[in-house]
Amino acid sequence: MNETLTKTAIKIKQAEYSNIGEVDFDNLQFGKHFGDHMFEMEFRNGEWGEPVIKPFGKIEITPALNVMHYGQAVFEGMKAFYVDENTVNIFRPDVHFERFNNSARRMCIPESDYETFISALEELIRLDKKWIPKKPGTAMYIRPVIFASDDYLAARVSDIYSYYIITSPVGAYYAEGFNPVSLTTPNGYVRAVKGGTGEAKTAGNYAASFLPAKKAQQAGYTQVLWLDAIENKYIEEVGTMNIHFLIGDTLITPKLTGSVLPGVTRRSVTALAAEWGYNVEERKISIDEVFEASSNGTLKEVFGSGTAAVISPVGTIEHDGNTIHIGNGKIGDFAQKLFDEITGIQYGKIEDRHNWVHSVEV
Ligand code: COI
Repeated sequence: MNETLTKTAIKIKQAEYSNIGEVDFDNLQFGKHFGDHMFEMEFRNGEWGEPVIKPFGKIEITPALNVMHYGQAVFEGMKAFYVDENTVNIFRPDVHFERFNNSARRMCIPESDYETFISALEELIRLDKKWIPKKPGTAMYIRPVIFASDDYLAARVSDIYSYYIITSPVGAYYAEGFNPVSLTTPNGYVRAVKGGTGEAKTAGNYAASFLPAKKAQQAGYTQVLWLDAIENKYIEEVGTMNIHFLIGDTLITPKLTGSVLPGVTRRSVTALAAEWGYNVEERKISIDEVFEASSNGTLKEVFGSGTAAVISPVGTIEHDGNTIHIGNGKIGDFAQKLFDEITGIQYGKIEDRHNWVHSVEV
């Protein structure tokens, strides 16, 4: 194996084999294929060890691995975009990293440093640049994850952690693509409560959402629309994205109350809307207010935002046996404008006025 060291001393072992030839880049499924390389670093004896990039592959574990029993794990999801033969743009890695460490603190996982993170991303992108899809709507999804990797069965904070970054060429997250999705509020289930782990990007939040999501899909809906856990009244987020409502000329986004994931695309949406002169409110919004706005004709658009989902228009919402239809099943102008602006910045076609993009020379 060919070995080199990067400027932040990441040891690189280059892959000798690639299965890229088996991938149909015209029909990418979300998270099915992985780049040839992965980043790996272990926390042991109170400190992070040597960072390494090596061929993507299996890791050796025992059935006593702590994370498999108690779920002590945090992850991130971000994207890199093909600009041209020499340039790839990573979208807001600094903000993703900040959330990664915030999630780590909540889960008693040791924090890590930005320099290693960004160097690892740059190196992975350079090594696997042929894996970055070029078609509109596609990107290289980047998944950093840290999990408890001590072997023991006592329910306590682990002493050892494994940190990986893997990459995956992706297309649209939902089968609907950019067409409107349908949502339903879950009967009898809640996602998170203030003081819990709802604002951390941790594995268990997703595991707990699978049953209500499965029931929603069996009933013909794309995703669950979560309400607050105390009053079962205020809208929080959707299964894999944040949510926004355009009522009149006001963009209303559920407030970060401690149980909502602070989305990076969510933050970009509210910043752009404010810049475009809309009234932007981050506040509690009840499901009744949304149904009322629908019946009095002021509900103009509903859409989700997320790294995987980008901007995802919502066409219907079901709650307690009643359904509202938004925008005649069509993509709203505001959602379209946001999608064009955000993806334009990501693909380097629109000026990056906010310094959101980290360009990598490949
Ligand atoms: C993302 O949008 O990056 C997420 O992490 C959602 C994921 C569960 C696919």
